[in-house]
Amino acid sequence: MIVEPSPTETHRLVRAARCAGKSVGCVPTMGALHAGHVSLIERARKECDFVVGTIFVNPTQFGPNEDFSKYPRTLESDLEMCREAGADLVFTPQTSSMYAPLAQTIVRVDRLASVLEGAHRPGHFDGVSTVVTKLFNITEPDRAYFGQKDFQQQLIIRQMVEDLNHPVEIITCPIIRESDGLAMSSRNRYLSPDERQRAGRLSQALRKAKQLAQETSLAPAEISAAMIDMLRSVEGIDLQYAVITNGRTLELLTEPTEPAVALIAAKVGTTRLIDNEILHFSLRQ
Ligand code: PAF
Repeated sequence: MIVEPSPTETHRLVRAARCAGKSVGCVPTMGALHAGHVSLIERARKECDFVVGTIFVNPTQFGPNEDFSKYPRTLESDLEMCREAGADLVFTPQTSSMYAPLAQTIVRVDRLASVLEGAHRPGHFDGVSTVVTKLFNITEPDRAYFGQKDFQQQLIIRQMVEDLNHPVEIITCPIIRESDGLAMSSRNRYLSPDERQRAGRLSQALRKAKQLAQETSLAPAEISAAMIDMLRSVEGIDLQYAVITNGRTLELLTEPTEPAVALIAAKVGTTRLIDNEILHFSLRQ
């Protein structure tokens, strides 16, 4: 496995693989890898001839009061995980090689990026769509792999790829969960043991929503009210939203129609967590 910090050299290595007739899979990450990331690299390994992981804690997607400086940086163990999962190349740029001091271009997806996470984290998705565009330009992948855990992010990237004619197929991979249901996230390592226990309630609320959608004829608003009830009663959880939306447009659902997704964001202590579950309305009229 090659570890390469230079965008130019990474581009050259990927080009060489493409010229040799290899298909390229890219797994963009910010490091602090866990089993969720490993599942993305393993999937890319199965589906592509040449697998590129990227590790870059992208400053432009963090707000001024967010955790950029304390975001976990665990490069050595990340590289070991990439190697074991079968990556061929890992791109590990410095901020200075990704953002020139006079850079002025931002890639912005409009409506999808303005709601939910976009409303709570202004500018976040501009940072994501801009850096992902740059990573796609550098690694020229045939396929790129993202986790369903960041549901809104993968929708925004799909929209961007369609709008800008990026020749890349976006693959969304299932959420990997801890044994109590907590969605794996690099930020889980901020949780104290007590907070870690409370955090399990988020996935319980989503499982409840899934069950209510499948087994009752409750309206989406009633199901989200049930999630809110479950989470508001837990001390130490500061719920930011628990909603049921259209799974493509992110508009709030008024009727039990599909695609549908339940989305939650909450602060557990000082750690902000997000999670989601695809819903199926089995009893819908
Ligand atoms: O999901 C992430 O880790 C980041 O948002 C991404 C896609 C690597 C862009 O920095």
